[in-house]
Amino acid sequence: MTVTRSVVLGCGSYLPSRVLTNSELSKMVDTSDEWIRQRTGIRERHIAAEGETTSEMALKAARAALAAAGIDAQSIDLIVLATSTPDNTFPASAVSVQAGLGITHGAAFDLQAVCSGFVFGLATVDGLLKSGAFKRALVIGSETFSRILDWNDRATCVLFGDGAGAVVLEVRSEPGTREDRGILSASLRSDGRHKSKLYVDGGPSSTQTVGHLRMEGRAVFKHAVVMITDVIEDTLKAAGYTAADIDWFVPHQANQRIIDDSAKKLGIPPDKVITTVAKHGNTSAASIPLALTCAVADGRINRGDLVMMEAMGGGFTWGAVLARW
Ligand code: ACO
Repeated sequence: MTVTRSVVLGCGSYLPSRVLTNSELSKMVDTSDEWIRQRTGIRERHIAAEGETTSEMALKAARAALAAAGIDAQSIDLIVLATSTPDNTFPASAVSVQAGLGITHGAAFDLQAVCSGFVFGLATVDGLLKSGAFKRALVIGSETFSRILDWNDRATCVLFGDGAGAVVLEVRSEPGTREDRGILSASLRSDGRHKSKLYVDGGPSSTQTVGHLRMEGRAVFKHAVVMITDVIEDTLKAAGYTAADIDWFVPHQANQRIIDDSAKKLGIPPDKVITTVAKHGNTSAASIPLALTCAVADGRINRGDLVMMEAMGGGFTWGAVLARW
């Protein structure tokens, strides 16, 4: 019996050229390369150029993903841009990407689930494609977190970076076997009781300002591993797989220790874990598509591989998507 699946046709990414190293940061705030590397695994991060916007970076990542997929932009009828750092309060930055690609049909909108945005975007688009409403979609994560950081707060400014990544998805009929390509299962969660543990202290309806990122780092860390491993186990179970079946684990790149602890708890060996946090820092909704693009480009992720993506972030929001590449 055939089944409908959202199949990944290609991915692409974009990183701003400016690289900010830990030693440069140690001249800006009271920190050190050693402290940052030991606590987070981060060595450097990219920072958007003055005036460079989230939608401009998203457009570059989208073009790279379309080129990798060998798809003409005109065949895209849905664009979902996951971001917490849009160009403007409205309209959605996704419509700038749509216009930049010269597309005037279909729909484009932003989705806001902080670091979980890309996973929420994949699951949302999977539902929309399977409903028959759209045929080919771009799911993009793009962030300019450098614009909402308090550069005097050493506890947060060392953690984040800017960048964008995108995937092209197409709805297809698959045979309904274990070899089916596409998204096999997805689980999304949120729990607003934790909203004050990681938030931005501004916004249009509260302060009429953009605000700065605030975080209780230790509390986030404490919840992260439990939430991540729990949602991954549910996502595997829903598709009839176990952690031993995973070819590649592509976690949200927040912190090397969270990634290592989660993989260990799930029994996923380190050589199956894709990590980019050392070079990208935490790029929020962009981190998973950036990591996917690296691992496809260097030949690790190949067609037919079973790929587990997961993220956790402000809200809290968290979720996982299992896909056969
Ligand atoms: N350099 C030097 N010292 C620092 C720095 C810094 N950059 N930042 C904080 N410290 C100091 C603190 O002031 C504190 O000093 P004190 O003991 O004199 O008061 C000390 O280091 C310990 O602070 P903690 O916050 O307890 O440090 P911890 O070991 O928890 O590490 C960290 C902090 C790295 C933020 C950790 O809590 C963490 O990784 N949390 C997860 C947060 C995260 O990844 N958030 C990303 C967004 S959410 C997501 O994407 C999952």
